[in-house]
Amino acid sequence: MVQIKTAEDIEAMRPACRHAADTLVMIEPYIKPGISTDDINDLVHEYTVKAGAIPAPLNYHGFPKSVCTSVNHVVCHGIPGGKKLRDGDIVNVDVTSIINGWHGDTSKTFFVGEPKVRARKIVEVARKALDIGIEAVCPGATLGDIGHAIQSYVEGEKCSIVREYCGHGIGRVFHEDPQILHFGKPGHGLELRQGMVFTIEPMVNIGKAAVKLLDDHWTVVTRDKSLSAQFEHTLVVTENGCEVLTRPS
Ligand code: MF3
Ligand code: CO
Ligand code: CO
Repeated sequence: MVQIKTAEDIEAMRPACRHAADTLVMIEPYIKPGISTDDINDLVHEYTVKAGAIPAPLNYHGFPKSVCTSVNHVVCHGIPGGKKLRDGDIVNVDVTSIINGWHGDTSKTFFVGEPKVRARKIVEVARKALDIGIEAVCPGATLGDIGHAIQSYVEGEKCSIVREYCGHGIGRVFHEDPQILHFGKPGHGLELRQGMVFTIEPMVNIGKAAVKLLDDHWTVVTRDKSLSAQFEHTLVVTENGCEVLTRPS
């Protein structure tokens, strides 16, 4: 069942979405060689609870930390740990905050120090893939239109789109209907309506699309160990397009 949110619901979601966006702004200056992903987790956790918000990942289906940190060939759901980031790494920081029971979900891939050519490329393609997906959103468009726009851009750049993980409806529930696939056919799938709220969060690999789940049951990596990057926003379908709720202020 795909919910339609009221204008009041949207207002109620703004604080959580704004907080998640602000968290990415807060963390950016700390992303330097030598910081560990545990350090990132601690900074995000403190920043969140100090604001009276709840970090949604913590204990979500048993996830052990307050944020996901996905380094280099990690596609998503990386678990923060003691390993230090090194010059040339890329790291996706995926923040989901809960305020007054409502969720806001956003992520960004950062360069650690000076990026190499391939890192620059995949991060640029992932960022643009999200922008192109957002541009496809308006009432009357379909989920297939979004997926197709993202897929055709990414494949045109000779990169690949991960199939196993997708965007999602969001609100009082972290992951709800509909699923937002980042590939598809124009005109196929659910028709978008004003008041639908969901994330778009394409995971883009510089090599092949195939992924595998590590033994920790969370960390998803590219099978060929190639670099993967991701950006995510939470948005609402408006009368004539969409509004990104996790745009940093
Ligand atoms: N924030 C991720 C998403 O974009 C989900 C993380 S679930 C967790 O949907 F348990 F790993 F935190
Ligand atoms: Co999400
Ligand atoms: Co997320």
